[in-house]
Amino acid sequence: MTDTILITGASAGLGADFARALAKKPVTLVLTARRTDRLAALATELAQRPGVEMHVISADLGRPEGVKTLLDGIADRGLSVDTLINNAGYGALGDFADSDLATQTGMIDLNIRALVTLTHALIPPMLARGHGRVLNIASTAAFQPGPYMAVYYASKAFVLHFSEALHEEVKGRGVTVTALCPGPTRTEFADIAGMAEMPLFTRFASDSEQVVRDGLAALERGQAVMVSGLLNRLTAASTRVTPRGVLRRAVAKLQSGRR
Ligand SMILES: NC(=O)c1ccc[n+]([C@@H]2O[C@H](COP(=O)([O-])OP(=O)(O)OC[C@H]3O[C@@H](n4cnc5c(N)ncnc54)[C@H](OP(=O)(O)O)[C@@H]3O)[C@@H](O)[C@H]2O)c1
Repeated sequence: MTDTILITGASAGLGADFARALAKKPVTLVLTARRTDRLAALATELAQRPGVEMHVISADLGRPEGVKTLLDGIADRGLSVDTLINNAGYGALGDFADSDLATQTGMIDLNIRALVTLTHALIPPMLARGHGRVLNIASTAAFQPGPYMAVYYASKAFVLHFSEALHEEVKGRGVTVTALCPGPTRTEFADIAGMAEMPLFTRFASDSEQVVRDGLAALERGQAVMVSGLLNRLTAASTRVTPRGVLRRAVAKLQSGRR
């Protein structure tokens, strides 16, 4: 029997590339996001590959009902998820005080609440079966506070710490939890976050396919944390020895540069 892998945020960017990479071998993939047309097109494309079975379940994971729709859809199809890739997420650049509250709380609902709810639903059956993997997409944003993207950075710090904690809790029980921390990556993320013109993205962004390769290698090894890319690894490591105030001011300068 092939593994069943659930990928959230599979209609674009890293999620779609995770699907393409995983469909190189026989597998059952469950794709979810809001844009059904995109999911359906990707599912049709990948279903041509040998041994690949595709399922599409459209859901707005920023809403508790959406998470329920996804979990019910998985149960209705009689699927048990061997690997969960919690990838759906978004960010927003700007002053917190001037920001739209729904955008900020929506980030918490998607980047944190949906990820925790799906993990809570799917990890107990993995533990009962004695095998399973979880890949949570954090970010290099997780390693320091992020002025002008305060909620996004904090949400990714949550994902990193939650994943590492869970990694230890389930250790030795056949289940692994991995946090993948990409740096700036060429997907739709920067446009949605209002960061497309920033040098971070115009000059330093990684290819989505490379980030996916790093993520899947770490998942395969059951590694606790994977920071994708040498420069990102160095930057993340430097946050451990840089005074907090210096870090805060550096990120503030970087992210207020366009304004
Ligand atoms: N790109 C980067 O520079 C970067 C760096 C570090 C970390 N990350 C993280 O990587 C992950 C993937 O992002 P990406 O770069 O691939 O961005 P992306 O191209 O914008 O893709 C985001 C995905 O999330 C889905 N999504 C957004 N809101 C949703 C909702 N309410 N319900 C369900 N699905 C939703 C989108 O699908 P629909 O719009 O169809 O719902 C899309 O499939 C995110 O967690 C992001 O924070 C990205």
